[in-house]
Amino acid sequence: MEAERKAARLPERDSNPFAQSTDFGTLPGMQELKLQRSAAEHIGLANPFFRVHEARAGATTQIGGKSFINFSSYDYLGLNGHPDVQAATCEAVVRYGTSSSASRLVAGERPIHRELERELAEHYGQEDAVVFVSGHGTNVTVIGALLGPKDLVIHDSLAHNSIVLGATLSGAARRSFPHNDHRALDRILASCRAQYERVLVIVEGLYSMDGDSPDLAAIVEIKARHGAWLMVDEAHGLGVLGATGLGSFESCGVEPRDVDIWMGTMSKTLSGCGGYIAGCQTLIEYLKCMSGGFIYSVGLSPPLAATSLACLRLLHREPERVRRLQRNSALFWTQAKARKLDVGLSCGSAVVPVVLGSSLAAVTLSQLMFDRGINVQPIIHPAVPERNARLRFFLSAEHSPEQIMTAVQALSELRNQAGKGPSGLALTT
Ligand SMILES: Cc1ncc(COP(=O)(O)O)c(C=O)c1O
Repeated sequence: MEAERKAARLPERDSNPFAQSTDFGTLPGMQELKLQRSAAEHIGLANPFFRVHEARAGATTQIGGKSFINFSSYDYLGLNGHPDVQAATCEAVVRYGTSSSASRLVAGERPIHRELERELAEHYGQEDAVVFVSGHGTNVTVIGALLGPKDLVIHDSLAHNSIVLGATLSGAARRSFPHNDHRALDRILASCRAQYERVLVIVEGLYSMDGDSPDLAAIVEIKARHGAWLMVDEAHGLGVLGATGLGSFESCGVEPRDVDIWMGTMSKTLSGCGGYIAGCQTLIEYLKCMSGGFIYSVGLSPPLAATSLACLRLLHREPERVRRLQRNSALFWTQAKARKLDVGLSCGSAVVPVVLGSSLAAVTLSQLMFDRGINVQPIIHPAVPERNARLRFFLSAEHSPEQIMTAVQALSELRNQAGKGPSGLALTT
């Protein structure tokens, strides 16, 4: 009744000249979504997103009561659900409960936060580290805290959304350089470094859509020569790159201290949730007092801190997991190439795309694979340009060679059907 009385006092919606602009359905992105959905429905494609997994999603998973070989999990080293990880997480639940209650600044922290940060700092040979509740949010808030209108952010053209968004919201000027072209980065810096107070260069250790890496040693030299900061996003590099999985500094032979800001996420190899920054004492102290995403957000849940700490220790203690992952990735990559599948720029490190050239072809092949008991996600426009639409395979240390061969064989058999819808309709218009 109360709700009805309140609604009755509001003016008629139709009489408001701005009524249209208050309708969420008129947002441009919504129009695009509706178009995509009706095209998919028209040719009988199921929505491949938001599938419900009824079990731990690792090398295999369970969806709709059926078992699938799974290539859609970030769990590179198979640590999600490891007995040590479960035990550490449960112990933290018992000791601290599930929540940090409020921001660490005001409500205080737990020993497990500092332990995790100390070990992350050690991993990167840095003085300190700080953890945040979201990996995406870490990039947005850290870039925003460090840069302003007098500054410049230069990032790789294939940088993750969180980097682009952080740079945009920071108010700094933003430039991108062609993917992995450090000579172009050098030229941009040579032409405009002097116009800005501070410059931040951002690259990723392993690109999450393409599975390739920059020449980090060259970029370290360039940033030092031009007087810029370098931030490396290791979301997909940790546990994957380098002989023992330490990350891009190990694979590129770079002294980790020569990178100013190490950023990473705890949602991949560390099987938890959240982001981290490792760097010098002053940087970490500054971020803990000046980044909105730390000060005005709740502290990382203590059990999740325990989860990621246990995973970090396992990564260091069991490097054979990394070797298994690398063997699996190389097997998938070489077998896919042998069957003339287009693996794009991937160098065979845990992330391997199979580029199909149209969003509908990607969604169709994903469904055909699903029908064969293989779960792999399509990556479609606008996440990648339409011509680069693909299936993206995440490899895991837990995949067996048989599972990998089954997937590559299925791809090879089904790819020609991906240019047609399940009902035989041509998908290209
Ligand atoms: C390169 C990169 N940075 C940041 C993020 C955001 O991390 P999270 O998913 O943990 O929020 C991702 C997510 O996949 C990523 O790929």
